[in-house]
Amino acid sequence: MAELVLCENHDRVAVLTLNRPDKLNALNYALIDRLLEMLDRIETDDAVRAVILTGAGERAFSAGADIHEFSVSVAAGADVALRDFVMRGQRLTARLEAFRKPVIAAVNGIAFGGGCEIAEAVPLAIASDRALFAKPEINLAMPPTFGGTQRLPRLAGRKRALELLLTGESFSAERAVELGLVNRIVPHAELMPAARDLARRILSHSATAVAGILTAVARGINLGIAEGLLVEAEQFARLVPTADLREGLDAWMERRKPAFGGSWMHITRPSEARRASVAMDRAAAQGETATRPRMLG
Ligand code: COA
Repeated sequence: MAELVLCENHDRVAVLTLNRPDKLNALNYALIDRLLEMLDRIETDDAVRAVILTGAGERAFSAGADIHEFSVSVAAGADVALRDFVMRGQRLTARLEAFRKPVIAAVNGIAFGGGCEIAEAVPLAIASDRALFAKPEINLAMPPTFGGTQRLPRLAGRKRALELLLTGESFSAERAVELGLVNRIVPHAELMPAARDLARRILSHSATAVAGILTAVARGINLGIAEGLLVEAEQFARLVPTADLREGLDAWMERRKPAFGGSWMHITRPSEARRASVAMDRAAAQGETATRPRMLG
C-alpha cells in the first residue's frame, strides 16, 4: 500500500505530503494517524526545525474528511462517531495549532472541509493561485468537526465565517487572504519555493525563541488579555536561562551576527527556569490573575 503521508527532509525542513491524490487527499483515519505519528517524531527531532504540509497530485491539498469512512462511523452512533471521527480530526488540528516548530501549509489546490480546517489551524499558510477553499459540511447536513466552527470565526470574524459555514460555497485564494486564512498567494509553480523561503527566513532565528513565540500565540489567542500576558511572560521566563537569549543579546551589543545553538531544548540554567516558574506561581496566588496558564511540559 502506498505511504499515506510522504516525508522528505531537506535543509532542516520536513515536507509532509498528504498522499491520496486519486481521492483528492481525503483524510481517512489511517492518514490522520500517520500524520500524527510523524508530527510526534518531528517535534523531538533536532535535525528538523520546520514543517511544510502540502497535498500530492495536481488537484487537491485535501478535500476533507473521508466521507465514505466516517459515514460508517456515523451509522454506528454518536459515541463511535465522536471517538473515531471527531476526536481524531480535532486531535490533528489541535496538534498542528500548538506545534512547537513552525508548520507552513502550502495549499496547492482544493482545500475543502478538513483541508480548510488544517489551513485554519496551522500558524502559517501560503496558497497557490489554483487553491480553492470551502466549508461544504452544510451540504452533508452537519457542522464542521475538526475545529471549523471555532477557528474560522476567530480568524475571519463571526459574520464572514458564518456566511461560508452556512452556504457551503467555495471561495478563492484571494478571499482566503482577505479572511486571514492564508498569508499570501503565489503562482502555482512557485508554491513550494515560497514555502521553503518562508521556512528559511524563520530558521535563521533561534529555535528556542521560535518555539516560545509559537506557544505564546497558540495559547494566548483564546485567552483574555490578562491571562494571555501571563502566558507571554511565562514564555519569556523560560527563555531567560537559554544560551540563545544570552547569545542574541551579546551579539547585538558586540555588533556581530549571532550564532544560535539550534536545539529548542537547550537550556543552560534549568534551576533558573524553575525559579521563574515559582515566581509566576506566587504572582498568580497574590491575585494578579485568577488562573495561571499551564506550564510547558
Ligand atoms: N471523502 C472521500 N472521498 C472523496 C472525498 C472525500 N471528502 N472527496 C473526494 N473524494 C474522492 C471521490 O469519491 C472520487 O473518488 P472515486 O473516483 O473513487 O469515486 C475522487 O475523490 C475524486 O473526486 P470527485 O468527486 O470525482 O471529483 P470532482 O472534481 O467531481 O469533485 C469535489 C471535487 C471536491 C467538489 C468533490 O470531490 C467533493 O465534494 N468532495 C467532498 C468535499 C467535502 O464535502 N468535504 C468535507 C467532508 S466533511
